[in-house]
Amino acid sequence: MRIDLVSLFPEFVAQLAGHGVVGRAQERALLALHGWNPRDHAEGNYRRVDDRPFGGGPGMVMLIDPLRAALQAARAADPAPARVIYLSPQGAPLTQAKARELAGLPRLILLCGRYEGVDERLLAAEVDEELSIGDYVLSGGELAAAVVVDAVARLLPGALNDAESAAQDSFEGEGGLLDCPHYTRPVEHPLGSVPPVLLSGNHAEIARWRRQQSLGRTWLRRPDLIDRDRLSKADRALLDAFLAERGGRGAPPEA
Ligand code: ADE
Repeated sequence: MRIDLVSLFPEFVAQLAGHGVVGRAQERALLALHGWNPRDHAEGNYRRVDDRPFGGGPGMVMLIDPLRAALQAARAADPAPARVIYLSPQGAPLTQAKARELAGLPRLILLCGRYEGVDERLLAAEVDEELSIGDYVLSGGELAAAVVVDAVARLLPGALNDAESAAQDSFEGEGGLLDCPHYTRPVEHPLGSVPPVLLSGNHAEIARWRRQQSLGRTWLRRPDLIDRDRLSKADRALLDAFLAERGGRGAPPEA
């Protein structure tokens, strides 16, 4: 997969993405990252990339032409069709399902804005999709682009080693639940002991316990992700037992 970053700080994103699983995906040639700086496509001595907003107000707006030229250069660098994504708080939320969809594409171009935003005409003409990584405001799209790169790269076939399989992650399993808790050695520690079921060697029991923990955690922490009435009978029984064990103190917080 090829991902092009259009940004005033393309090295920043590349550096963020240079470690761990994403770095390894690049070493394994599963992922190629390329940066394009709109400033390299800006005119004049000052290589201006922004200007004041029409209508007044604070901040600066990124100019159409340097961004457009950088995007065109990125597109022309490879014949594969690219989905162009603009990162902004106004975008649709990035979800695990969206990351999966993007990981199936041959090419992405991630457009990072700075300042107050980007001239809307550029977005309307060149952008296929707008994504947000959460309901908070960053000072630019670069961190969000790095989040997209990371979430997508780890889903590319061969990026994770078997032991890291993404299938067990939060949001990935049956029903899109949160992940269960994990433990490693030592069994006994001043901070507590490992739940005995995990030491039992009984794989069916362990799977049941993990499923139950996932259900319970999701119910308590992210009630927006779980609908008791739509759970299977088996899952509902597991959840009810989880809540009963907590003494019935399991009503999800009011949404
Ligand atoms: N740029 C600024 N804030 C952002 C956010 N929350 N998500 C994506 N891009 C952004």
